[in-house]
Amino acid sequence: MQEIKITTTLTCYDNIEELPQNIQKLMESAVTARKKAYAPYSKFRVGAALLLENGVVVSGNNQENAAYPSGLCAERVAIYHAGAEYPGVKILQIAITATSDNHINKTPIPPCGSCRQAIAEYEMRQDADIEIYFMGGEGKIMKSNSLKDLLPLIFDKSYL
Ligand code: THU
Repeated sequence: MQEIKITTTLTCYDNIEELPQNIQKLMESAVTARKKAYAPYSKFRVGAALLLENGVVVSGNNQENAAYPSGLCAERVAIYHAGAEYPGVKILQIAITATSDNHINKTPIPPCGSCRQAIAEYEMRQDADIEIYFMGGEGKIMKSNSLKDLLPLIFDKSYL
């Protein structure tokens, strides 16, 4: 018997101004996307913006549905759009912002498990890490250098 310890390292920025300039711009795109979310049921808006290696920014926001599970998270709207429109173009970074309409979330809000799994697929597909920056509505921002740091023991194609 053996105990296995899994550790992860994240970087924390105090505010958007502390981010590298290109990431500041990317986070601003995520904020713009967040404001356009369709979230009449949860009142919780999420925006995601991806920077591709060709310089294009692809953004998405959560799209809800009266049949709740038919809605989709912002991160997957964005990454599936990138996969559909720019197959073969690497995703370098993702910026995510999320907040409730009822109160401003000031702590970093990470992507949900399903979105982590979706992002993992794209890291595998492009054989290169994707940096992930996530924020609440404002305030501190957390960064992971790769999806692998957010989802240990990933299920991937190697098991199929
Ligand atoms: N949501 C996202 O867009 N991304 C996540 O990673 C977590 C949750 C959305 C789904 C739903 O529209 C709302 O936030 C509340 O869960």
